[in-house]
Amino acid sequence: MRDESVPRVTVPTATAPTVTAGAILRFEAAQRVYGSGEHAVTALGPVSLTVGAGELLAIMGPSGSGKSTLLGLAGALDQPTAGRVLVQGRDLAALSGHALAALRRRAVGYVFQDLNLLPGLTALENVALPLELDGVALPEAREVARAALEQVKLGGLAARFPDDLSGGEQQRVAIARAFVGPRVLLLADEPTGALDSVTGELVLGQLRAACDAGRSAVLVTHDAAHAAWADRVLFLRDGRLVADRPAAVRRVPAPVDPLRGGAAS
Ligand SMILES: Nc1ncnc2c1ncn2[C@@H]1O[C@H](COP(=O)(O)OP(=O)(O)OP(=O)(O)O)[C@@H](O)[C@H]1O
Ligand SMILES: [Mg+2]
Repeated sequence: MRDESVPRVTVPTATAPTVTAGAILRFEAAQRVYGSGEHAVTALGPVSLTVGAGELLAIMGPSGSGKSTLLGLAGALDQPTAGRVLVQGRDLAALSGHALAALRRRAVGYVFQDLNLLPGLTALENVALPLELDGVALPEAREVARAALEQVKLGGLAARFPDDLSGGEQQRVAIARAFVGPRVLLLADEPTGALDSVTGELVLGQLRAACDAGRSAVLVTHDAAHAAWADRVLFLRDGRLVADRPAAVRRVPAPVDPLRGGAAS
């Protein structure tokens, strides 16, 4: 099914993503237990899954089913209490703190459920920050960040601070920040929660286009229509993987950008 209402967009990068053959993300019986003894809560697992290059995986499940926990493990923000998580073939538990920080900066783009924008930085500075931290020269980092903001229709608000933006605008800044740079794995935790349907579709089309260009992504969503952008949909319940199946109808980004009125770049 082709949805003509959704623009095709290109994802700006400072450098092209380094795409490796095979699995980008792999969970091997990964489990996350909080607390111990009679107070232990199994938030996730054991879960095994693989996300290949170019693949968009959607994760659905009720509140508290472990979706954010899974994403946190995938993004090296948290460690499994049992099992292994590998990104680009590297076991995250075997990486030094320095190597983990570099992986989070370079390989993984994360859209947090609670956004995590830095309030003291403008929208442009927030988006440019991961590139600057990775050694990209300031003018180039700002240029790439500006292009990323324009992709989410926020070019005019680049100088605003997060507190002076609406919830949906803040969400788009967080999305632009996750997309910049050579990230091969995009992790998005309900990235469209505060967006109107047109902007939400724009963001999902962007995620799809990024995967079609060779990146990989995991999208947490409560919306089955959004999951239709994915190649596969995985269902969690009480921390357990209860289904893993191909999206019924995989949507594709439209070739024309109706918001710009011409051929998409
Ligand atoms: N720090 C923590 N300590 C104890 N339990 C936790 C902690 N963080 C999460 N949990 C529990 O782990 C389970 C999974 O939480 P998680 O945040 O992954 O759910 P979710 O599927 O993302 O939910 P939602 O859709 O509401 O965002 C829940 O039962 C939650 O209460
Ligand atoms: Mg969550």
